[in-house]
Amino acid sequence: MSKILLKNGYVLITSDSQVEKLDIFIDNGEIKEIFKNGDLPDFILLDKDVIVYDLSNKLITPGLINTHTHVAMSHFKSMADDLSFKEWLYDSMLPREDLLKTEYIYNASFLSMLEMISNGITCFADMFMFVDETAKAVVNSGMRAYLSRGLAFDTPEGWKRRIDENLASYEKYNGYDNRIYIGFGPHAPYTVDLEHLKEVGLLAKKLDSHIQIHLLEAAWEKSQYSLKDIENTGLFANPTIAAHCVNLDEDDIKVLSVNRVNVSHNPCSNLKLGNGAAPIVDLLKHNINVTLGTDGSASNNSLDIMKEMYVAGITQKSKYSPESIKTVDLLRMVWDNAAFALNEKIGRIEKDYKADLTVFDLNCPEFFPFDFNRLKSHLVYSASSKNVWATMINGVWKYYDKKFVDVEVDKIYEKFQFYYEKLEDDFNRFDNGSDN
Ligand code: NI
Repeated sequence: MSKILLKNGYVLITSDSQVEKLDIFIDNGEIKEIFKNGDLPDFILLDKDVIVYDLSNKLITPGLINTHTHVAMSHFKSMADDLSFKEWLYDSMLPREDLLKTEYIYNASFLSMLEMISNGITCFADMFMFVDETAKAVVNSGMRAYLSRGLAFDTPEGWKRRIDENLASYEKYNGYDNRIYIGFGPHAPYTVDLEHLKEVGLLAKKLDSHIQIHLLEAAWEKSQYSLKDIENTGLFANPTIAAHCVNLDEDDIKVLSVNRVNVSHNPCSNLKLGNGAAPIVDLLKHNINVTLGTDGSASNNSLDIMKEMYVAGITQKSKYSPESIKTVDLLRMVWDNAAFALNEKIGRIEKDYKADLTVFDLNCPEFFPFDFNRLKSHLVYSASSKNVWATMINGVWKYYDKKFVDVEVDKIYEKFQFYYEKLEDDFNRFDNGSDN
């Protein structure tokens, strides 16, 4: 990996900082030094191996982090927009999901990663089957990813097969290039009973791995379990990201707080499926680590964390009051809090942190008036992912000057489309099939 100097950019070190004009020196995928603009030492100025990028009129921020998605679900985008959650899940989603085979996954996952990279997202947490195929796409896309094998219990044999696949993926990809990590993804307490959640908790503990789970997404789940039940399985003894957490009572909130469960708030998916607005302001009052996720393309339908930030802000203001959630709270969710949930040196532009960066073009109407005191508000409420100009992951440009850098994008689109048509063809011929 090359030595890189990013010169003349405006830099937001993290959510609590003020924007400053700084130069950033990157080596071997990490941020090595940060200098006041123009204040560069000889060891950089005289080093002919340093590649210099002039980022005048650009805003450099930590890379945006998406803590809950299902990248392989791009096949199901815009398929069932106007259905209830139950109809969406049981009539539309699951019958198609049952038809998925290995060959459908790589390009579907890659397509989602292209969307995220062009939206300034550098890192994501994912839950799905066929983890090896998604991991291969992560290897080639260059993204940072926390992948978990989606687990559901039907029969003891089916369960064993899924766990074995999960463990094999862990062996194969955990720690790859210091940017792929494999965890466990028990889908939800209504698809995995308490006994098997306990088993997953013990496995994750043994491997020092992480958990991703959907919790209390829809109102009907409330009658089936409480978070106290899940706590008693020991699952939360592991680093856990709980997606959704919409329908919580006081006791549930206490359980999340006491067990330091990280919440992935997915406002667009929750609102679109009619599941409501999660009580995020209450969670923040209880010092719960709240992050943001897009959920998969099937429910959202876009993988755009800037949009989530905006919708999270306006929804909470509407649910509570305009003062209840601040711009900085929302920025923390995509940087500091997400990095904390993933236990990774990302989400800040600081010495020895990973060089995961998002670059915005300030020469756009959304960023005027140009005023350091307003830039962070512009980011949340005025700008959008269309203002993303470049994305760097692990010290490598994956998107630059609004173009993908080292991917044959057309090939991905073409192959994705081929398998999409094959899947729809399968769906029209069979009612349902396998047991993924
Ligand atoms: Ni989800």
